[in-house]
Order: sequence, then structure tokens, then C-alpha cells
Amino acid sequence: MTRTGQNTAPIIIAHRGASGYRPEHTLAAYELAIDLGADYIEPDLVITKDGVLVARHENEISQTTDIATHREFAHRRTTKIIDGEVKNGWFTEDFTLAELKTLKAKERIPQVRSHNTVYDGLWEIPTLSEIIDLAQRKDVGIYPETKHPSYFQSVGLALETPLLAILSANNYQGTQAPVYIQSFEVSNLQYLSTKTVLPLVQLLNDSGQPYDFVISGDARTYADLTTASGLAEIAEYAQVIGVNKNLLINKDSRGKLRSPTSLVNDAHAAGLLVHAWTFRNEDFFLATDFQGNPAGEYELFFSLGVDGVFSDFPDTARMGKSHQSPIT
Ligand code: G3P
Ligand code: CA
Repeated sequence: MTRTGQNTAPIIIAHRGASGYRPEHTLAAYELAIDLGADYIEPDLVITKDGVLVARHENEISQTTDIATHREFAHRRTTKIIDGEVKNGWFTEDFTLAELKTLKAKERIPQVRSHNTVYDGLWEIPTLSEIIDLAQRKDVGIYPETKHPSYFQSVGLALETPLLAILSANNYQGTQAPVYIQSFEVSNLQYLSTKTVLPLVQLLNDSGQPYDFVISGDARTYADLTTASGLAEIAEYAQVIGVNKNLLINKDSRGKLRSPTSLVNDAHAAGLLVHAWTFRNEDFFLATDFQGNPAGEYELFFSLGVDGVFSDFPDTARMGKSHQSPIT
């Protein structure tokens, strides 16, 4: 049996790689995540000028690459409005893959993860194809997210067609394939559900609304999508909700956890799995209840019945899981 075939719930999804230990969205971060026990590796996906899917959290790449030091690209610095927000910098869709490959990744949050800055300048921006090669070689799943799907469609670089093409070319087929496709928007998941039976994940944040709803004038918020009717609608096109963990247990004004909501049970009743994000070791991110005890946070959320967690520290997630059930 393969490693992916041996996975037992809750699954551990390496959030942009082992991002607590290496700069996110690099092959080094993904490889370490696999070594530390991740079941799935998560690339956020944006696209290049020549239509290649690459792993970055944003299409504006000044925060996570050394592009600002590349004088040959200085003239391409520009300002755009992405999902309603003004962004100034350099955008993946203005560069060919060959050009992006001359850049090197750097740590996103050096003020919290200064130890990761020793890796700044070492690794390239990986393509989805390179990430799939690694995942298949190591026998783990992939968990790609379509970033800014309405925006990319508006500039003639829709993500969905190349994503399905590369998944098909790499033999991801059927409802049990080791892949989940996720989006914070709704309409592109609804579209994907007409084109594939691969598992789809509706991401739900703890505030705001899907940006395609903003564009279409749909007033519903993410909170509306967590109601019984909202969950029933999601279940028509997706198999999983990927939730901000605050939607499961919120914090009070002092950072202390409140009582759990009923969302895990409600989602399960609607036939949906629940994957929660994002779990991080640093006290900076932890509720006051778990300062110095990140494994305890996993144990609490696992006790609610979540089916998976997105983690920057897959080894800590494994530790939390080991207290719930035997490691497989
Ligand atoms: O994709 C779910 C999780 O990764 C949270 O979203 O991409 O903003 O970190 P993101
Ligand atoms: Ca993501």
C-alpha cells in the first residue's frame, strides 16, 4: 500500500511546505515537510505570462522573492488592483517562467522566523509540475489552491484549464486521487465541479466574503456559507470545507479560546469533511491557552473531529495526532 493509501484522518497538510522551518513555497520546504510526516503538500498557485502555474501565495512577489534586487526588472514594477486592494510591486503574470526562474525565494516573516533567513537566496520559485514530481516520488498527496481566480480569468490567464490539464497529465483521476483543489471563491469551484470528479474544497474565512460574490453583487458572506443552507449549497459542488480555525473555536479579546462552535458537526451532517487552517508553533500565533504547547492545540481541534489540518510544522501536527490515534 502506498503512503497516501495509508493515511488515516485527520490528514496533515503541509501549509506552503514546512514553512516554519524553510522559506515557504520552495521545493526544500516541501521536501522537509514530507520528511516530517506530511500527508499532503500545499502549493498556492498563481500563473506566469506564458501560462505556467507556479507556487506563490500572491501574484505580487516582492515579499517572498529577491526581485527588488534585480535591476533588469526594475522597470516592471507597477501598481494594480487585485481583489479590490491596491498592490505595488512585481506580478507573476508580467514575467515568463524563464524570467521568474532567475529569482530566489526569501522568508516571508523574518521578524518571527529569523532562523529561516539563512536560506534566503538559495531556492527558486517552483512550478506545480516540479511539486507534483516531488510528491509522486515521495508518495504524498498535493493540495493546490487557485489564488485570485476571478482576477486571472479577467486578464486572460484563467487557472482552471491548465490546472486540470497538468493533473490529468500526471494521472490524478477519480474521487480517491491524492489531490484536493481549493479556492476562497465559489464560482470557479462550481465550474471545476462540472469538469472533474477530483475532490474540491471550499475555503471559508472568519470574515468577509468570496471575491467573486463582490464582483457579482452577491451580498452573502463567508458566515452565511457556514449556515445549514450555505453548507448544503457547498455540498452540491465540493466535498470539503477548508476553514479558518477561528470558525471552529474563536478567541476572546484577550486571545483566550471560547467554546467550540457546531460547525464541524454541521458540516459532517451536510456530508462535508472539515480541514482547518493554519496551525503554527510560535506563541505569536497561539491562543493564550496553548502558549508553549502547540501540540496541545492540535489535540483540542482533533477532539472536535476535524478531518485535516494545515500546518507550518508537520512534525508537531504528527505529535498532536499521536495522542489521538496510532501513527500510520
Ligand atoms: O488554503 C488554506 C490555507 O492555506 C489558508 O489560506 O493561502 O491564505 O494561507 P492561505
Ligand atoms: Ca493556501
